Amino acid sequence: MTDLNSLFQNNRSWANAIKAEDPDFFTTLAKQQRPEFLWIGCADSRVPANEIVGLMPGELFVHRNIANCVVHTDINCHSVIEYAVKFLKVKHIIVCGHYGCGGVQAALGHEQLGVADHWIRHIRDVYYNKRKDFKGIDDDKQRVNLLCELNVKQQVANVCHTPIVQNAWSSGQELAIHGWIYDVKDGLLKKLTQTINSIESVREQYRVDGSTE
Ligand code: CO
Repeated sequence: MTDLNSLFQNNRSWANAIKAEDPDFFTTLAKQQRPEFLWIGCADSRVPANEIVGLMPGELFVHRNIANCVVHTDINCHSVIEYAVKFLKVKHIIVCGHYGCGGVQAALGHEQLGVADHWIRHIRDVYYNKRKDFKGIDDDKQRVNLLCELNVKQQVANVCHTPIVQNAWSSGQELAIHGWIYDVKDGLLKKLTQTINSIESVREQYRVDGSTE
């Protein structure tokens, strides 16, 4: 069993290294956070948000769950989005998926996992709605990776469908939504969507800002 003392040792070395570079780093940061980015990513241990984009504490507001889902009824995720947009005034929301995602893989299978089945149902729905895109793709890994991409696109749309984001746009707040995917095999990120920064990119059915009335 891993000795947890080593984690505390790591922590002290990490804090000391930062203080050696900038003695005021933690005292300045303790007063206020001003991140420009909200990251919505997978809980997978291979996808550590700050590390893969080279950002320091204070620079990235983070929400992670199984398979980077933005579910309409999830008060946790929506509280994070609201706080990030309304109070921190982040300029970018990044939904980042990753290839080989276990949650996405489970959505293509038929095994019962437990509580997570309810969560994964959202991804199962993405697959069902986009099932035609999978025609002719027999390789299991390719199917998983395609669904990883389609899931990111759906979750980006879900972010754009929130009143929080639409209200920010209608009040003239600068806010862009992005869909990215990360490859655990080479550590690299890829853009999946165009930058979305206005209500014009949202389908009429999902507009809740009064713009079509
Ligand atoms: Co994952």
